[in-house]
Amino acid sequence: MGDIRRVPRVDDALLSARGVETGYGDLQVLHGVDLDVRRDEIVVVFGPNGAGKSTLLRAIYRLLPLWAGSVTVDGTDVSTVETADLVDYGVGYVPQTANVFPNLSVSENLDVGGAPVADSSRRRADLYALFPRLAERSNQRASTLSGGERQMLAMARALMTDPDVLLVDEPSAGLAPQLVERAFDHVQRVREGGTAVLMVEQNVRAALGIADRGYVLDVGENRFEGPAADLLASDAVRDLYLGARED
Ligand SMILES: Nc1ncnc2c1ncn2[C@@H]1O[C@H](COP(=O)(O)OP(=O)(O)OP(=O)(O)O)[C@@H](O)[C@H]1O
Ligand SMILES: [Mg+2]
Repeated sequence: MGDIRRVPRVDDALLSARGVETGYGDLQVLHGVDLDVRRDEIVVVFGPNGAGKSTLLRAIYRLLPLWAGSVTVDGTDVSTVETADLVDYGVGYVPQTANVFPNLSVSENLDVGGAPVADSSRRRADLYALFPRLAERSNQRASTLSGGERQMLAMARALMTDPDVLLVDEPSAGLAPQLVERAFDHVQRVREGGTAVLMVEQNVRAALGIADRGYVLDVGENRFEGPAADLLASDAVRDLYLGARED
């Protein structure tokens, strides 16, 4: 762990981003970002507002074009694969907002997520087993769910295609403080279900508490990276990005 110029590759990466550059119109946001996720890892990306964290997830999910760099999944270059086809490569995505259909029921939301899947009712049953609360609420409109339940549904919807890696933008955003830990329990459940997680988070301490590794982005560049425990223990990371201790 340390202040970095070059980001070391990890062995056996499932998802790898290398030298990713992108932005919006004339505005370049990412200036060559590197990141890896291993199978079954939870990896957290954090850093100041506007650092480009959401932009990085969008670039990986091909919602933005790569201006430079590459994304590979299991060694296959997916840099030019369309978003709709990324399901075939085992990549899923949960945006920060507008991630469920409020007027559809829980089960209908899952069916929409499972549209690309042949045996979606079986997959839905698996996800109800993983998230029993959703089974209890299966006929309820998504708009009537609590914030935490809605985030759970958003993840389950994206898991309907049984991805190998799920990109999640701020799973604890907008949740009351006492619900934040529970949101991370759900992220751990995703991993237990066999899906690696790459998440962006602002609740950094709690996120690092369940993550294997983390990356700090600052102004569109890698700033720190390392095992979660090392990042938590780092004075520099704490002073710059973690704020005052809550405990
Ligand atoms: N749709 C957009 N059009 C133009 N500029 C954008 C757009 N979305 C984001 N930006 C700009 O890109 C930069 C990075 O934004 P991004 O949303 O990736 O940051 P972030 O790290 O996710 O921040 P936050 O912690 O606030 O979610 C910011 O300067 C932002 O204003
Ligand atoms: Mg963001």
